[in-house]
Amino acid sequence: MTENETNTKPPHTGKRRSTFSGKLGYVLAVAGSAVGLGNIWRFPYLAAKYGGGIFLLTYLILMLTFGYALIVSETALGRMTKRSPVGAFQAFGKKLPFKLGGWVNAVIPMLIVPYYSVIGGWVTKYLFEYLRGSTEALAQDDYFTGFISDGFSAELWFLLFSFIVVAVLFAGVKHGVERVSKVMMPLLVILAVFVAGYSMTRPGALEGVRYFLIPNFDNFSWMTVVAAMGQMFYSLSIAMGILYTYGSYMKKEVDIEQSTKQVEVFDTAIAMLAGLMIIPAVFAFSGGNPDTLQAGPSLMFITIPKVFASMGFGTGAGIIFFLLVLLAALTSAISLAESGVSTFEDQFGFSRHKATVLMGVIMVLFGSASALGFGVLDFVQVIGMSILDFFDFLTNSLMMPLAALATCLLVTRVAGLNKIMEEVEQSSGFKRKKMYCFFMKYLAPVCIVIILLSSVANVFGWITM
Ligand code: PFF
Repeated sequence: MTENETNTKPPHTGKRRSTFSGKLGYVLAVAGSAVGLGNIWRFPYLAAKYGGGIFLLTYLILMLTFGYALIVSETALGRMTKRSPVGAFQAFGKKLPFKLGGWVNAVIPMLIVPYYSVIGGWVTKYLFEYLRGSTEALAQDDYFTGFISDGFSAELWFLLFSFIVVAVLFAGVKHGVERVSKVMMPLLVILAVFVAGYSMTRPGALEGVRYFLIPNFDNFSWMTVVAAMGQMFYSLSIAMGILYTYGSYMKKEVDIEQSTKQVEVFDTAIAMLAGLMIIPAVFAFSGGNPDTLQAGPSLMFITIPKVFASMGFGTGAGIIFFLLVLLAALTSAISLAESGVSTFEDQFGFSRHKATVLMGVIMVLFGSASALGFGVLDFVQVIGMSILDFFDFLTNSLMMPLAALATCLLVTRVAGLNKIMEEVEQSSGFKRKKMYCFFMKYLAPVCIVIILLSSVANVFGWITM
């Protein structure tokens, strides 16, 4: 076989590749994986920090162009080769660049899930505290800082969250996760609409709504683009091998373009609702304090409890809110860890048991470092960042652009845009074909170079994130 021929036979793992039940099953599964802490925790703090409306606008433009083209590409490559990323790249060639391209995609979820589980642990702790009725205490200014810097408390909650993830993987209840997502998503939307409505109508909150929705070009900086691009990868689960795997389970009759659109709309709607819950609250409860806007990863944990403490039924709302966030975080963490487990199974021939144990060990090691990085390990700074921030930076700002670059090169230089178009057209006409080709050939490489150069400049301290 030449390097340009596609080997589309399924790998000889002795297992039949399962497929999603159909269009709805596919969209729900991808949305279940896409909607998670990225939408509710990460998006609002980045929007607050990097310019509000101008960040939102940049995010939307990138998502509809660059993001769209990458989702279509990864899904089509997965469906065409019927493999996860490492196998998909190697279906086109066995040389080193193909190996590296596949592996950079496959390693990212393994590095994200440990620190993702640390945040999952924070959410679990807050749920526990609401169940105990600590609504007032949680709304105090120093509560969150006290919690994460207090010796081993954050570590214990991280371990609990990770234990649940690993236990689910052992049980192998993939379909259970899909079922949870189906019930959870509508509930999450209803609650988010309700809390956002409440938050936006507090005195002084309108200023926050304006800050979040109306672009102000004075707030634009280079970092707005870099942060928005990283967030787009993160939130839509792009450039981390996930969509190759989902694509490989997708039936030929499912319309790739339409399902991409639906996932993007759903994911963005949840992120915007989260923004409307959190950013107006910063203005209403902290007077739009610039320090609070810059709070970063702690923003959700600082502002949301203040909203709940001001409500008549705040404890109930707190319980429901953190329960739903916990479920969204769990389904996402499970799908991230599952991707690591299947890479170990497929590439090293490990049993599921052994692969799960290895994934668990990686989670505990890297996750503990991140959890303790705000407490006993707070003297450890990697290029000026806490350990958790460093893992976030490493995956989002360095590895994901490289993974996206690998996909772009695979599409434009090896597989050929025609092959992707043929794959998409197996199920439907390809309406945005011309745009797709333009994005892949010109826009994507420019975006990737921008994010990589900015990240390197950041490492050397030429610009600050
Ligand atoms: N997209 C998820 C989020 O926004 O929280 C993160 C994620 C979950 C990425 C699951 C990848 C994945 F497989």
